[in-house]
Amino acid sequence: MTQSTPYIRYSDSIEVMQPDEQEISQKIVDSMARVNRLMYEKYRHAIRDAHAKSHAVLKGQLQVYENLPEHLAQGLFAVPNTYPVIVRFSTAQGTIMPDKMSAFRGMAIKIIGVEGEKLLPELCDAVTQDFLLVNYPVIPTGTIREYLKLQENLEKQADSGELFQQIAQKAAAGVQNVLAAVGLADDTNELSAPGPHLLGDTYFSMAALRFGDYVAKISVKPLSENVRELSGKKIDKEIIDADGNAFLTKVTADFFQSNTAEYEMSAQLCTDLSIMPVEDGSVQWPEDISPYQPVAKLSFLPQQTFSPERRVYADDTLSFNPFHCLPAHRPLGNIMRVRKLAYETSSRYRHHMNALARIEPKSINELPD
Ligand code: HEM
Repeated sequence: MTQSTPYIRYSDSIEVMQPDEQEISQKIVDSMARVNRLMYEKYRHAIRDAHAKSHAVLKGQLQVYENLPEHLAQGLFAVPNTYPVIVRFSTAQGTIMPDKMSAFRGMAIKIIGVEGEKLLPELCDAVTQDFLLVNYPVIPTGTIREYLKLQENLEKQADSGELFQQIAQKAAAGVQNVLAAVGLADDTNELSAPGPHLLGDTYFSMAALRFGDYVAKISVKPLSENVRELSGKKIDKEIIDADGNAFLTKVTADFFQSNTAEYEMSAQLCTDLSIMPVEDGSVQWPEDISPYQPVAKLSFLPQQTFSPERRVYADDTLSFNPFHCLPAHRPLGNIMRVRKLAYETSSRYRHHMNALARIEPKSINELPD
């Protein structure tokens, strides 16, 4: 008899379509697209529906650990290997905000050199695989019903110009958590407050994905001492005061002028769907029951993180998409399923309006220095 593991095995029946799912999803995507058109008119340049503002674009490598046990040696992590990666750090809003506004920050990872057919038919032959993470363990609007409420609220405010006025006024008054009011930040979350360094945060998939034969959430956390010591550490007030708009870009660029950095990627495997649901991304899976277990290391050498050429390539040419993955890492749950159409719609509009082709890199050398 083979020894059984405590981990839930993946099966198609783990995902459960929700009542009115298609209609609600379409409403979310349509509303996002309308706001995105307003943004286009504002900037006369098309930006992402979400995570529009980048702060740093890194070249690095992902090293899958050797000798992983069977439950971790899954999908991309089945075989020890080292891959080049592109990482784009961003802020969650679909508009360009001053860095001093409290907000969730994103870490999008594009892994290059991943063989095998990918999930999205139009990218099935690409040699890339994406993971999209945010510096918070759960998505507070963890179902499409909750997300639709947030999105409709946001659209109303964007339509009336209220959102941007309110943000501008509060920014001028030095109030930090205005975005919490519209659900784009969590004012109880120290990590999303404006002070902490991007490079000291831990980033999470927030919702579940397939992990080969199992089901998991993914995280990336600081590993080397120089980034661990940035965790929760406030950026100097003088630096924020000197450039409240773009200090995150500056501190990241300054760091990588002379430093290397290492992070660890981990997987938290589901052991019980009743306490670790996939259909509600707002539920934090208890780490005392199933801890995050290391699967790979991300490393970066000193580099220029935000040259004009690199920024334009990452912002305008590249797209990151949670469904651009091996079938073994398919995103799971209704808040994930809606992302399929949302990312496709946003990326297609952006590339169309900027008259640029979407290109999936075949080699890390395509990322400008
Ligand atoms: C479940 C947790 C989620 C995480 C961890 C996450 C993370 C991210 C990240 C890191 C990016 C930036 C990608 C880049 O650098 O290009 C991004 C972009 C985006 N996100 Fe999410 N997101 C989540 C949920 C959602 C949901 C629920 C929606 C909409 C229903 C959404 C819509 C978008 C869109 C439209 C973009 C821009 C895509 C593009 O134009 O290329 N995200 N997300």
